[in-house]
Amino acid sequence: MDATISFTLNGRTVTVRSDPSRTLLEVLRNDLGLTGTKQGCDLEGECGACTVLLEGVPVRSCLTPLGKVQGRSVLTVEGLGDPERLHPVQKAFADAGAVQCGYCTPGMIMGAAALLMRNPNPSRAEIVDALEGNLCRCTGYAKIVAAVELAAARMRGEAAEAAAPGEKVIGGDSLRVDVAERVTGRTRYVEDIPMPDALHMRVVRSPHFHARVVALNADKALQVPGVLRVLTAADIPGQNSLEGYSKDETVLVPVGGTVKMVGDAVALVVATTPEAAQAGAEAVEVGYDPLPVALDPQEALSPNAVSIHADGNVLSTFAVAHGDADEALAASDVRVDTTYRTSYLEHATLEREAALGYIDEAGRITVVSGTHEPHWHRDFVAPVLGLEPS
Ligand code: FES
Ligand code: FES
Repeated sequence: MDATISFTLNGRTVTVRSDPSRTLLEVLRNDLGLTGTKQGCDLEGECGACTVLLEGVPVRSCLTPLGKVQGRSVLTVEGLGDPERLHPVQKAFADAGAVQCGYCTPGMIMGAAALLMRNPNPSRAEIVDALEGNLCRCTGYAKIVAAVELAAARMRGEAAEAAAPGEKVIGGDSLRVDVAERVTGRTRYVEDIPMPDALHMRVVRSPHFHARVVALNADKALQVPGVLRVLTAADIPGQNSLEGYSKDETVLVPVGGTVKMVGDAVALVVATTPEAAQAGAEAVEVGYDPLPVALDPQEALSPNAVSIHADGNVLSTFAVAHGDADEALAASDVRVDTTYRTSYLEHATLEREAALGYIDEAGRITVVSGTHEPHWHRDFVAPVLGLEPS
C-alpha cells in the first residue's frame, strides 16, 4: 500500500507517494531522476555501485526500503559536488586517474567520502577495508586507493598532488575530458537515458542446457496488467540468426528448435513497466523436451559426444605460436610435461547490459547500447528486422 514518505535529499526536503517497500535506488533513479546512483548487480548488495549516505553512513540503496528513509537525510553523488564545485574526493578521483568507464565511481566516491568524514587520516588498509564491498571492473583499484589518499591529504590541508598530474601523452593531457561529469554522476549510461513512454522488455530464457522446445503459450503472460506483446521466433520479420557472430545460434529459439544452453532466448515480453515485463516473462509457459548434454569441454570434444550444434561442438580453433619451442626445449636443462587448465573468464562490465531502441524523426531505427562494436550491432540488428543496414 502506498504511503507518503518525506526525507531530506541532498539538502532539500522531498516527498514521495509510493510503496514504502520499494528500494531507495529505484525511487532515486526512476521517480526523482537522480541517475548518478548506479545499479551494477541484481539488487543483491554485491557491487556497491548504488552506495549513498544515509545520515552520513554509507548504505546500499538497492537494499534500503524507501520507508526506512522517512524523516532522515540522504546524500547522493549529485549532492556531494557538481562539475563547477567538485568535492575534494571527486577532484582527487579525477586528478589521480581513478576513473575509467566511471560506472563504479559514484559508489566509490560516496564510500570514500564517508570514510574521510569519520577518519581524516586513514591508513591504506583502512581505505581498502572501507571500499572492499565496492567492485570496479576497470581500474585494478590501485588508483582508487591513491585517489582516496590524495583526497585525505588535501582535506587535511596538505599541498598534495597526484602521482603524475596532468601527464602529457603524445601532446595531450591524460585527464579525461569528461571526468567532471563522471565523478559527479552526470554521465548518462544506457539505463540513465530518459525516454518518455518507453516500453520495457524482458527475455524468457531456457532453464535447460539442451532441450527441444515443444510448446509455448503466452496466454497467461498477456493477462498480466501492463503486458502489451509477447514476441516469439514467428514474429521475427527477417533472419532468425546472428550470422558472423556465432554459428547455429538463433535470436529466439522457435517451437521445434533446440535450446543449446541455459539462458537461450525463446520469447520477448514487452510491457509498460520493467516490473510488468518481468512478471510477464515469468508467466510465459514453455514446454521443453530435455536432450542429452555435454557439460565439459573435453567431453564435448570427444568423438562420441552428443552433438549440440548441427555440425559439431567446436566453435573455433586457434593456433598460438611464439618463438622456437623445439630449440628452447633442446637447450633446456630440465623438461616438464604437463597440462595446465584454467577456467574460461568472460569479461563483464559493471554497467548492466542494456539497450535502448527508438525510431528517430527521420524514420531511422536507432539502438543505443554500451559497446565497442556499434557496426557489428548494426549488422546484426538490421537483418533480423529484415532491413538493409544504413
Ligand atoms: S546495485 Fe546495490 S549493491 Fe549492486
Ligand atoms: S571505472 Fe570502475 S567499473 Fe569502470
